[in-house]
Amino acid sequence: MFPADERKLLPLFTGHTPRRAAATCRYRCGNACAHEAPNTSDNPYFGDVVREIVSRRNVLKAGAVLAVAGAGVGVVAAPVAAAPGNPGEPGHGTGLDFDPVAPNTLDAVVVPDGYEQDILIRWGDPVLPGAPEWDFANQTAAAQAKQFGFNNDYCGLVPLPGQHGRHRERYLMVSNHEYTSENYMFHGWDPDNPTREQTEIAWQAHGLSVVVVERDRRGKLEVKLDRHYNRRITLTTPFTVRGPAAGSPLLRTNADPAGRTVFGTKNNCAGGVTPWGTILSGEENINQYFANADAVTDPVARARLARYGFPAGATERKWERFDDRYDLAKEPNEANRFGWIVEIDPLSPHENPVKHTALGRFKHEGANVIIAHDGRVVAYMGDDERFEYLYKFVSDGKYKPGNSRHAREHNKKLLDSGTLYVARFTGDSPAAEIDGSGRLPSDGEFDGRGEWIPLAHNDKSLVDGFTAEEVYVFARAAADVVGATKMDRPEDVEPSLKNRRMYAALTNNSERGNPGKEGATEINPRVRNRHGHVLELEERRSDNTATTFSWQLFLVCGDPAADDTYFGGYDKSQVSPISCPDNVAFDSKGNLWISTDGNALDFNDGLFAVPLEGRERGHVKQFLTVPAGAETCGPIIEDDFVLVSVQHPGELDGASADNPLSHWPDGGDSQPRPSVVAVYRS
Ligand code: FEO
Ligand code: CA
Ligand code: CA
Repeated sequence: MFPADERKLLPLFTGHTPRRAAATCRYRCGNACAHEAPNTSDNPYFGDVVREIVSRRNVLKAGAVLAVAGAGVGVVAAPVAAAPGNPGEPGHGTGLDFDPVAPNTLDAVVVPDGYEQDILIRWGDPVLPGAPEWDFANQTAAAQAKQFGFNNDYCGLVPLPGQHGRHRERYLMVSNHEYTSENYMFHGWDPDNPTREQTEIAWQAHGLSVVVVERDRRGKLEVKLDRHYNRRITLTTPFTVRGPAAGSPLLRTNADPAGRTVFGTKNNCAGGVTPWGTILSGEENINQYFANADAVTDPVARARLARYGFPAGATERKWERFDDRYDLAKEPNEANRFGWIVEIDPLSPHENPVKHTALGRFKHEGANVIIAHDGRVVAYMGDDERFEYLYKFVSDGKYKPGNSRHAREHNKKLLDSGTLYVARFTGDSPAAEIDGSGRLPSDGEFDGRGEWIPLAHNDKSLVDGFTAEEVYVFARAAADVVGATKMDRPEDVEPSLKNRRMYAALTNNSERGNPGKEGATEINPRVRNRHGHVLELEERRSDNTATTFSWQLFLVCGDPAADDTYFGGYDKSQVSPISCPDNVAFDSKGNLWISTDGNALDFNDGLFAVPLEGRERGHVKQFLTVPAGAETCGPIIEDDFVLVSVQHPGELDGASADNPLSHWPDGGDSQPRPSVVAVYRS
């Protein structure tokens, strides 16, 4: 932790979109925001969908909504007795009795008074025994292959079984390494002339890391160089393709004529721990790594590439110079082998990870699983791009409880067969009251109903004009046809195990309401949405397999003093400002935790906690902030520690390895290093 006197203020960002450094946009998502969103489908607009559903299916019943309707704007202020700091009632049973961290622009992780922090692992720290010491200026691919990768995003913890008699808890900690920013990794980086060694370092800096983490005598976590479990998964690790599109001609390449084995995973963003103790991870902005989409002449193939935003010409990193699989002119199907949910079993370190075709191919943020009442498992997923969709998968098979080898092998096949759905939402307020300003409609809430529309069940397509394989590989295009609802960048989506509702972070959408683009809808109620919102969705009878649901916007983010924000009905004078929600997580009491990416209020990103039930519902409090230029990722909330992944610290306009603008976490004149931070109560 930085002593207070070593913290220094960093310059504020200039107005990128919405508040990300140009380098973050360039390296993470291939400048997605600078391009037109690739969803140019003419899905019916919101109002049309409402009319169609009311007239043809008659599923809407006025007033039959999840939430109690208020009498007008700004309803349900919390009673005074619910104010924070009420003596003897800290957090009112929510457990959230910390004093919120103030917004800031420090080059530090800032935690509440009474808490302390440690760096658990940093980019370049050893993962495998024998990893060489970190040496920024002399990095090699061989070293990186044994070290913690770059830009860790999601983080998951799986308890290690067989701990009876041990006095120390042990976990397997799995981190995603979403992307590389070569400009920050190499002195004298020349974007026009990357070297083979730099390229191979980047291949090894992507993927995932698995490390054993143990509590020491003081209860603090420390990383162990475990010979059995510690693992690096990179762009050269073989993955097995499974599910209904495995072996499809759409997935075959010269190197893999069977279409069943893919080397590597990349752009792994968010993820989730399954009930059977594996990790799911989403391959997100994969389009930016493949060159020469314009060289593909077949019009159908071109349209499919365009729907996923594959660029013309050379890529930013120029990997196509070193491996033909990144050149679509030579290997057009290689693109189809990324954009999946992958599953890693950290307890089986020699087993190939899996790419799950049954969960569809899109720019997967992540996936989180809940066991439904009848034992089937349901995975919720978001496609993180402007005007893309929310999906869910319902398994055919049922979860077998327990950790026996038999049960685990059974459960590890659950994501191979089932039904893939996409969400369609309808609002319950008159269209005239949804004016794009974010002002609440007269019923006091942005809310309504919706349905999950099936796209495919195993080898059976449920979309006209698509084979089942096409539905899975080009899920975006299939969802266009059935009239899915265009959302404001669905990021992390996670069901609460306490109330069975699903929470989705809709981070922002700079294009909503622009000429030629869809305008405000009740579920995406602000045009040029800079601050994002958080959706709460409850399926009929809390049955996660149900195909109908009610929904409401739990948070409409931004400055609490502004008219266009909403905090679950809580008194806005008492909440922390929050902007651009990205990851969601839950603590053991069922409170929702939200991390942010791109705070458009001109402060550093942070981690926030908010109760979902009772008088404190909507009382958002900032728990920590990350250094300037960084994004808060991968929050894990345990009863006695919090883990947070600090991605791209110091990724500020004008910064580079030759001109670092952050020195977190090592201080002095060091290079910034993406890291996992552990926070404890003092
Ligand atoms: Fe990698 Fe959707 O953030
Ligand atoms: Ca409404
Ligand atoms: Ca994310």
